Amino acid sequence: MRILGIETSCDETGVAIYDEDRGLIANQLYTQIALHADYGGVVPELASRDHIRKTAPLIQAALREAGLTAADIDGIAYTCGPGLVGALLVGSTIARALAYAWNVPAVGIHHMEGHLLAPMLEENAPHFPFIALLVSGGHTQLVRVDGVGQYRVLGESIDDAAGEAFDKTAKLLGLDYPGGAALSRLAQQGQPNRFTFPRPMTDRPGLDFSFSGLKTFAANTIHQAIEQEGELSEQTKADIAHAFQQAVVDTLAIKCRRALQESGLKRLVIAGGVSANQQLRRTLAELMTQLKGEVFYPQPQFCTDNGAMIAYTGFLRLKQGEHSPLEIEVKPRWPM
Ligand code: KG4
Ligand code: ZN
Repeated sequence: MRILGIETSCDETGVAIYDEDRGLIANQLYTQIALHADYGGVVPELASRDHIRKTAPLIQAALREAGLTAADIDGIAYTCGPGLVGALLVGSTIARALAYAWNVPAVGIHHMEGHLLAPMLEENAPHFPFIALLVSGGHTQLVRVDGVGQYRVLGESIDDAAGEAFDKTAKLLGLDYPGGAALSRLAQQGQPNRFTFPRPMTDRPGLDFSFSGLKTFAANTIHQAIEQEGELSEQTKADIAHAFQQAVVDTLAIKCRRALQESGLKRLVIAGGVSANQQLRRTLAELMTQLKGEVFYPQPQFCTDNGAMIAYTGFLRLKQGEHSPLEIEVKPRWPM
């Protein structure tokens, strides 16, 4: 079975081919980051238009990369939510139209399920059941995963997602959008203990998160530093970045520990754009050593949005005999 996967939920056009016997045999990605950078965030209309320009050529490139033709494809998987409605419609329409033309089944995939299962593309793949920490620009969730399609959300952010908090704080520090990765590079130059940020919602029971207060705390810290220094020095920026990142990472780690202890599970998966964060990886690796468990994550290129995770999730779903009807339905908001 060979499945073509198409991801267009936000600002990345991802196309990949997953082969049941050989694994991932093609992976193409086009990122629109430069297109949106001047606007300080993703402009939905521009995103849709760019997906229209890029998706079909990327499908052609993926087939070429795998040395295949359309006749070799047995099914198509596409992201049908959550995400930007126009962007989702582009990928879904192209996927559905190709499936009709090629006479193969197609299946709509939940974007976060793709992120959740992305670590299973790796050689050292986790076995079910496990706890997954999903940390992206749009979501922060702790999920108990018992099998494909067996997901229970244990906790989630009641306001900003972790990636969103990274991006907003990065913007306050004058970094380009999306500034999560740049903030974390800046944090490496920061001195520990100059500033201390709160660890929101860790002093009460439960597994929910709240990150919008950290952005406000960062804004106030910057404001006070400007009053004292006149202008923010590079060192102060780095110190603030360090303190902010430490607070997010500690908060995530505290809730992961809690979820693992409450469930008795020993396997932790981290996925989504923020799982590329090295400080988070180090901290969770230490946590899992303490708990005598194991942590799994996707390789960096599959932490952020990509077609591979959609092709793989689609393969699992189609293999189970699932497929979606011909009428195209996208779900911009779609709980897991
Ligand atoms: O999963 P993703 O590509 O897209 C969504 O589905 O949202 O995640 C993108 C998010 C952005 O907020 C970005 O700033 C953040 O992941 N991100 C990071 C790092 N790399 C990407 N945040 C912190 N540290 C990083 N190294
Ligand atoms: Zn994503």
